[in-house]
Amino acid sequence: MLGFLLYLLLTLLFSCWIFPSRAYRKLKKNGFVGPIPSFPMGNIREMTNNRKLFIYWLGAEPFLYVADPEFLRKMSSGVVGKSWGIVKVFKNNREPMFGSGMVMVEGDDWVRHRHVITPAFSPSHLKAMASLMVEPATNMLDKWATLINSGKPEIDVEREITTTMGEITAVTSFGLSYRDGSSGSRLFEKLQAVQDTLFNSNRYEGVPFSKWMCPKKTLEAKRLGKEIDQLLISIIDARKSCWDGSSPRNDLLGLMMNGDGQAGMSLSTTELVGECKTFFFSGYETTALALSWTLLLLAMYPDWQNQLRDEVRQLFGDGQINFEKLTDLIKMEWVLKEVLRLYSPAPNTQRQAREDIKVDDLVIPNGTNIWIDIVSMHHDPTLWGDDVNDFRPDRFKDDNLYGGCKHKMGYLPFGFGGKMCIGRNLTLMEYKVVLTLMLTRFSFSLSPSYRHSPAFMFSLRPKYGLPLLVERL
Ligand code: HEM
Repeated sequence: MLGFLLYLLLTLLFSCWIFPSRAYRKLKKNGFVGPIPSFPMGNIREMTNNRKLFIYWLGAEPFLYVADPEFLRKMSSGVVGKSWGIVKVFKNNREPMFGSGMVMVEGDDWVRHRHVITPAFSPSHLKAMASLMVEPATNMLDKWATLINSGKPEIDVEREITTTMGEITAVTSFGLSYRDGSSGSRLFEKLQAVQDTLFNSNRYEGVPFSKWMCPKKTLEAKRLGKEIDQLLISIIDARKSCWDGSSPRNDLLGLMMNGDGQAGMSLSTTELVGECKTFFFSGYETTALALSWTLLLLAMYPDWQNQLRDEVRQLFGDGQINFEKLTDLIKMEWVLKEVLRLYSPAPNTQRQAREDIKVDDLVIPNGTNIWIDIVSMHHDPTLWGDDVNDFRPDRFKDDNLYGGCKHKMGYLPFGFGGKMCIGRNLTLMEYKVVLTLMLTRFSFSLSPSYRHSPAFMFSLRPKYGLPLLVERL
């Protein structure tokens, strides 16, 4: 008993004090400064200030905060994608959500995952996926029409779009029908439940043993994670048993299972399961948020709403979407880029140093957690000018890639370097298909009940939902 208590005490001492303090001292010695942390919350409460480089603490974990594009450029110039590590504290908490998917692996494993998966996102495969998106989106719009007919023109578009993007992601990722009662809908419900249980309820990442503050939720997430794995394994097994070597199914799972035939370059069933979950969690909420914030901004700026509708009509008339012509929706692309600048669905990204990294006369020690504040750089007037907070999609007219940002690393909606978002072209396609369908049937204006409160931790979402007044055209 005494031995056990001593063991517990030592574990606590090392994990909450000695190891974190050692990491902190190393950073300080190398010239980085930051506010004094308090135990056990770290600097969670002080995370709103205007400095671009400092240390802060998430609970008992020190992080180097970076919102300086030039520092970022220098920091990442000599480090390839596979040499970055994953922040351990997030890795431990997110296992039930991401399994052994790409966001959880490092080094050569990460290279193998990326190598097998990248071809699945090629333009020709994406084009073939576009038709899968129309039915779920149309179902949502039919529902809106019914609501409007029954005298309810106020619709929480964020809630609606999030559900629909989940359905679209389930179809494009695992080719599953999401209709009530089907295995697709069961999987979809469980995926959403694990996210609610694990992620949306845990505001204390980094705080020691935070997952045991709500043991019921942690165990529930574990149980759901296992059930999801079982469902996905049975889908993969069923596909393996009836696959005759002909063309693979045109969803991400089918394309990944096909691999590229190179020896040593395939994914095990467990890894495939992890990737399916990764696509789901990385893809559906981010794209849904991009669409939701777009509708808010189009409601606030009716001139841009009309310009996009005109563009859609000129391309497709009143007929069906021609997927070949989606690239011609130029203004819509400017609007997406400006929305991703102002309301980045992924407002930050993280890395862990796997070696000492020299930046001028500073050294980021091996093992340092790095927090890159994307949304802060997107709102920096020294990079964008005095109109930084204005909605001005035409800033991408003359500078399609960086929107006139003074530094190329100042606009990073999809991250940077070798670890840049693998799903960015899929997002672009989903965005264009769903927004085109919306704009051809409805117009949008602000509802008096909308309260503007973008809230963020790992995604940037409207805290009180996004009610808009929707009218049939
Ligand atoms: C508006 C939509 C999206 C945004 C804003 C977004 C943003 C990001 C960001 C900022 C990163 C981190 C990159 C870095 O650390 O440098 C990332 C990584 C990733 N994203 Fe996305 N993403 C979006 C949509 C998607 C979609 C649709 C998918 C897949 C179906 C996806 C899959 C991934 C994956 C797998 C990674 C990890 C890449 C790696 O570690 O190599 N994302 N995304």
